[in-house]
Amino acid sequence: MGPRWSLLITAVTILLLFPAATSQPETPKKNSRVLLNESYVYGPFNDSYTSGSLRDIFDVENDAAIHLNAFQVTPDSAGNISLVNKSGRIFLKKPFKLWDDINGEFNGKLASFNTCFIFNAFRIKNDITPPGEGIAFVIAPSFAMPFNSYGQYLGLTNSTTDGKATNKLVAIEFDTTKQDFDPDNNHIGLDINSVRSKVSVPLSKFGFEIAPEGTQFWAIWVEYDGEHKEIYVYMAKQPDRDGPTVEKPTIPVLRSSLDLKELVNQNSYFGFSASTGVNYELHCVLKWNISITAFPEDKSKFSNAIKIGLIIGVPLIVIGSAVFVYFISKKKCSDTSDPQITGTLKSLPGTPREFRYKELKKATNKFDNKNKLGQGGYGVVYKGTLPKENLEVAVKMFSRDKMKSTHDFLSELTIINRLRHKNLVRLLGKFSISLSLISIELITLCLNHVLDHIYVRFGRTSITFMMTLLN
Ligand SMILES: *[C@@H]1O[C@H](CO)[C@@H](O)[C@H](O)[C@H]1NC(C)=O
Ligand SMILES: *[C@@H]1O[C@H](CO)[C@@H](O)[C@H](O)[C@H]1NC(C)=O
Ligand SMILES: *[C@@H]1O[C@H](CO)[C@@H](O)[C@H](O)[C@H]1NC(C)=O
Ligand SMILES: *[C@@H]1O[C@H](CO)[C@@H](O)[C@H](O)[C@H]1NC(C)=O
Ligand SMILES: *[C@@H]1O[C@H](CO)[C@@H](O)[C@H](O)[C@H]1NC(C)=O
Ligand SMILES: *[C@@H]1O[C@H](CO)[C@@H](O)[C@H](O)[C@H]1NC(C)=O
Repeated sequence: MGPRWSLLITAVTILLLFPAATSQPETPKKNSRVLLNESYVYGPFNDSYTSGSLRDIFDVENDAAIHLNAFQVTPDSAGNISLVNKSGRIFLKKPFKLWDDINGEFNGKLASFNTCFIFNAFRIKNDITPPGEGIAFVIAPSFAMPFNSYGQYLGLTNSTTDGKATNKLVAIEFDTTKQDFDPDNNHIGLDINSVRSKVSVPLSKFGFEIAPEGTQFWAIWVEYDGEHKEIYVYMAKQPDRDGPTVEKPTIPVLRSSLDLKELVNQNSYFGFSASTGVNYELHCVLKWNISITAFPEDKSKFSNAIKIGLIIGVPLIVIGSAVFVYFISKKKCSDTSDPQITGTLKSLPGTPREFRYKELKKATNKFDNKNKLGQGGYGVVYKGTLPKENLEVAVKMFSRDKMKSTHDFLSELTIINRLRHKNLVRLLGKFSISLSLISIELITLCLNHVLDHIYVRFGRTSITFMMTLLN
């Protein structure tokens, strides 16, 4: 391809914000993507999880600890610590994305997941005290736990927050203490924002006692079917902690409709919480695995974006930092670049910087087709790398004639400009993004005495930002 473009830079995110401004509608292919699952296996919870290579995977809150090859979600009996009125959480630090959407619009896809864990609730003084209080598998907006969530609150809520929709919390509780709202002291429950379970099922009818005298390990399968919006929980006696997991039973102990999208955050954290009260037991999780729908934030994400009329495709997820470069037609690089462009540029935040055309050519491996990320009515986007800057870039080459391309460029600059407009700030707010997250750096380039370039560079936070916008 000859140097027949001049430049423009903009960001995909910005285009996505204003589909109408730049769109070239293509036929929507709703839900056409094949969704893959991502799988994780955790445990045995040995020192790798506390001081080794896996130490950053879990967040351990309050009275919890990873100790003796287990998640001690509440403290174990070793030492002289009181076991009364404790609560703890151990959560994965990585959140999971629970539904897919495009530009703020839900596209109908909820994640499904299967998770399996082995736990036990061990009564120390089983001959003297009744068990207390319980342990839960939790989906929550953060791993931070509320104060005073011991006792009946299972590390989930406290007397102030219990029942509030703002908790955005769904849990499967294994409850060994009867409160006045509980059916008994040995039940499983589906908790939505509250320890007052939406559904609770006494386990005695299955012949199960969560915390019997002596040691009993349990295998639990929690399966969420995002397509039919249903949750299933299966439970089986697990003969020993380290052996292979028993067969999953065919009949669930609990089954309920559940629309996670209506209840929790799109990006939610998974983990365990537990508490003791006046009565106590040890709450240990010994193994855990999970398989969950992976919504790709890549090219196919963008082909979804194309549905709403957008043409640029960039696998941003994998890109730590992104640069977008636009070219427009063949303008000789004279001392006088287009005053309209320079004027608009000057009105934008950031420090202009220059790139040579050959640098971009090199970055994209001579605009190699293999680097092509997407194509639309206005141009072709290539992936590239700027080695010096250690930046992944997207280079857009405008295919329309110079005048139209200049117009396209300017209208996109205007869009960028609008980022500072208070209305846009509000729009961004809708995406829970604060404008300060975005550092936009505009760069004017003079390409080989041929082209003007501009690019907009997003800072470190760009990916989150983009993903949030794409959501
Ligand atoms: C992903 O997991 C779900 C169950 O959670 C299963 O129905 C689906 O077939 C899996 N998809 C792939 C591509 O493995
Ligand atoms: C922890 O357990 C894993 C799996 O059994 C093992 O590969 C690893 O070496 C163990 N690490 C430590 C520090 O014991
Ligand atoms: C634990 O408690 C015992 C008896 O109450 C006491 O003798 C011992 O010093 C305590 N140990 C620690 C480490 O506090
Ligand atoms: C535990 O909490 C209960 C209820 O809040 C309280 O009555 C009891 O005194 C507490 N016990 C201890 C040892 O803190
Ligand atoms: C409940 O937790 C919230 C958040 O941590 C806290 O602000 C509130 O004070 C707590 N309520 C009680 C009664 O401790
Ligand atoms: C989790 O463990 C269960 C029981 O061993 C097994 O059936 C399932 O395939 C495992 N899932 C993953 C993602 O490893």
